[in-house]
Amino acid sequence: PEQVSLLERCIAQHALRPGALIELLHAVQHALGHIPEAAVPRIADALNLSRAEVHGVISYYPHLRSQPTGRRLIQICRAESCQSRGAAGLMRQAEQLLGCAAHGTRSDGALTLEPVYCLGLCAQSPALMVDECEPHARVTPERLEQLARQWL
Ligand code: FES
Repeated sequence: PEQVSLLERCIAQHALRPGALIELLHAVQHALGHIPEAAVPRIADALNLSRAEVHGVISYYPHLRSQPTGRRLIQICRAESCQSRGAAGLMRQAEQLLGCAAHGTRSDGALTLEPVYCLGLCAQSPALMVDECEPHARVTPERLEQLARQWL
């Protein structure tokens, strides 16, 4: 019921605006943490779109999620500046330390590991973000090991 009223509030705020679908999907994800499958028919109805169109947009944007994340969300930047400073190695190390593949959630639900494409910290690459609010810059393999101990 709480999810439904949050969904309806997002629809009321976004349905009539230009670019409504993408704005609405962002608002729903922000409110609920992901875009539940059950919300897709209601979103499609509200915007007079087909469910396939809504699904198409959700699957097109890598940062839109249909599944809830683990208790923590770890995002490692894979955009150009971070790539040039070892982001691929950092992601491999994170996968090993955290026991979780990129784009995946640990089986115990402790965390989700995701690549992202620029966190706005390019001058201090490589960078990662925890729970979309806790940035870490110039992340060395040693620093990642320390962080991983806190997360598990
Ligand atoms: Fe990684 Fe911008 S490229 S923060």
